[in-house]
Amino acid sequence: SIPVDNVQALASKLDLKDVPIRYIRPEIESDEVLSDESLQIPVIDISKLCVAGGCGYDDELTKLHVAYHGVSESIDAMKKVTQEFFKMPLKEKMKYAQTPNTIEGYGQAFVVSEDQKLDWGDMLFLLPLPIPQRNLRFWPLNPPSFRVTLDEYSNKLYGVSRELFKLMSINLGMEPETISKLYENCTQGIRMNYYPPCPEADKVLGLAPHSDASGLTLLVQVNEVQGLQIKKNSKWVPIKPIPGSIIVNIGDIIEITSNGEYRSIEHRALVDLEKERLSIAAFHFPGLETMIRPLTEVVKEKTTKYKTIGAEDFMRLIVSSKLDGKCLIEHIK
Ligand code: SIN
Ligand code: FE2
Repeated sequence: SIPVDNVQALASKLDLKDVPIRYIRPEIESDEVLSDESLQIPVIDISKLCVAGGCGYDDELTKLHVAYHGVSESIDAMKKVTQEFFKMPLKEKMKYAQTPNTIEGYGQAFVVSEDQKLDWGDMLFLLPLPIPQRNLRFWPLNPPSFRVTLDEYSNKLYGVSRELFKLMSINLGMEPETISKLYENCTQGIRMNYYPPCPEADKVLGLAPHSDASGLTLLVQVNEVQGLQIKKNSKWVPIKPIPGSIIVNIGDIIEITSNGEYRSIEHRALVDLEKERLSIAAFHFPGLETMIRPLTEVVKEKTTKYKTIGAEDFMRLIVSSKLDGKCLIEHIK
């Protein structure tokens, strides 16, 4: 990949109107954005879940409730260390800079060509799971509580993802463990995004449109600055940050596993004119030994809509393909 400017440093020295052309995306001007609030995404109040009745969901819902409980403190702590990390001087952050042949570290999203448009944001990407494969050299030592906080956060969010996988299995008419079994050796990626304010905020993107390649992404918006949009009926729908919430994003792998019963969602991130925006995405992938394919229990007598691909090959495909709508899953059809 081709190294590009640090956006936080770039943003801090810009005088108005000076946004380099590689960040300007003329195409977004004509995008239709739903401005009213007619389209609301479903919100689940986990505190009410354990009293829901019937259908064998009870036990699993209670477990989700329990799994979530320790999580809220962990989310707050993670938000805090993430903010503190990006506040540090560039020199300190660069101790954890991406290196040529790794995807982990502090830097920018993959750039594969000199004319590719650039995202208005920096990130710190780490792979906390599986634990034996951790690359601690990319795990910040400052702020001092960063590592323990991320370790805890990784563990808690993995727990939430497992409970959600169980509910999805039940929902698809399968044994509760059917999907979560595939995630026993989960590869988990955690991506902390920092989007500086931009004097031409309406002409740039923090993150270009894409669907997550993962099974399930658990996304947390760190501050109150709105920016996430999802694509629904060819219109962009802004997602309001709800304090204390986790946004559950279906990724391409769950679309494949469920043979299209669950769809991965196309989304993008806008940036703000005056305020910085931060988010933390936790991606959950099945273990590398897993075959990614529509489950026979879901397909039954219907046609299989996706090909079978080994998780390891799938991971390689992610790294080699550039973010562009739902392009990755098109390869698997
Ligand atoms: C993401 O798609 O990984 C992050 C989106 C956001 O910043 O809200
Ligand atoms: Fe995403």
